[in-house]
Amino acid sequence: MELLTDSFGRVHSYLRVSVTDRCNLRCRYCMPPEGLEWIPRSEVLSFEEIERLVRLFVGIGIAKIRLTGGEPTVRKGIADLISRLSAIAGPVPLWMTTNGTTLAENATTYRRAGLTGVNVSLDSLQRQRYREVTMRDELDRVLLGIDAALEAGFESVKINVVVMAGVNEEEIVDFVELARDRPLHVRFIEFMPFAGNGWSQAKLFPYAAMRERIEGRFPLLSLPGRASDVGKDFTVEGFAGKIGFVTSMTEHFCDGCNRLRLTAEGGLKTCLFSRAERDLRGPMRAGSSDEELAVLIRDELMRKWRGHPPMDRLAQVPNKSMVAIGG
Ligand code: 5AD
Ligand code: SF4
Repeated sequence: MELLTDSFGRVHSYLRVSVTDRCNLRCRYCMPPEGLEWIPRSEVLSFEEIERLVRLFVGIGIAKIRLTGGEPTVRKGIADLISRLSAIAGPVPLWMTTNGTTLAENATTYRRAGLTGVNVSLDSLQRQRYREVTMRDELDRVLLGIDAALEAGFESVKINVVVMAGVNEEEIVDFVELARDRPLHVRFIEFMPFAGNGWSQAKLFPYAAMRERIEGRFPLLSLPGRASDVGKDFTVEGFAGKIGFVTSMTEHFCDGCNRLRLTAEGGLKTCLFSRAERDLRGPMRAGSSDEELAVLIRDELMRKWRGHPPMDRLAQVPNKSMVAIGG
């Protein structure tokens, strides 16, 4: 098996594939309030193009794939794409990050099509606040969607909570409670700066403060992690689920980074916080062979920097908004 290695010796085995930049919600931390210009359809990779690139990436060392967006389930035919990709990926697990608004109807279909697991984004359990964060009144549907996902038999169902100071930090303990009776993996994510998302240091609710909130109520028992894991995982005695933290801001994990991103228009990004993007769609449409595309991929990987700039400078680094990069 080949390995995709960068110039610092990190092995890249995890590919996040954005299948659309569109979304049916408008989360404030993800999209600028004025909205975005959507990528014209002709510039978005077709299913055939996604299949070809995924086959190529799996052939050169990718061992885990995640479909992202925007919101992947707004892409027409997503269940068909899942079954085509899971056939290509074979034993390589295929995950999806979704806002959960379509899971009540479709979780079982996605599971049968070969999806391994889902991460559901959910930042408030209170209807009014959910509406303020996402600009849509979809909380009830998402909660039904989470139940449907648990019943569909995925290997795991994770809940992603972006914690923002003064917005939802008082709900942290309520989110931990979700894992008491259900085998949910609840992951708290530090709020990160992206173009137009209103980030400021004051709105960052740091990992240490999250731990403090929770440990005032529940003792957290640490679970062993791997170097490439972006999360720190814990159990609470007697709980069916797990609790995790993604400490992108206060304890970044660049040294163990194993991920690559493919944008909806076929750009390869080797760091979430870098503007650098290598176009794969152009060469592909111009007739490049798989071997030629693999050379481009390896070359871009060799340019990957050791780590992103420190937290206090990240907000000034020009970047796209999260919805356009692919969460
Ligand atoms: N900070 C942290 N996480 C973010 N996401 C999107 N925007 C941000 C941000 N500014 C992540 C969340 C969400 C997924 C789609 O992308 O985890 O669940
Ligand atoms: Fe849509 Fe997810 Fe962005 Fe929210 S975070 S607007 S659900 S893509």
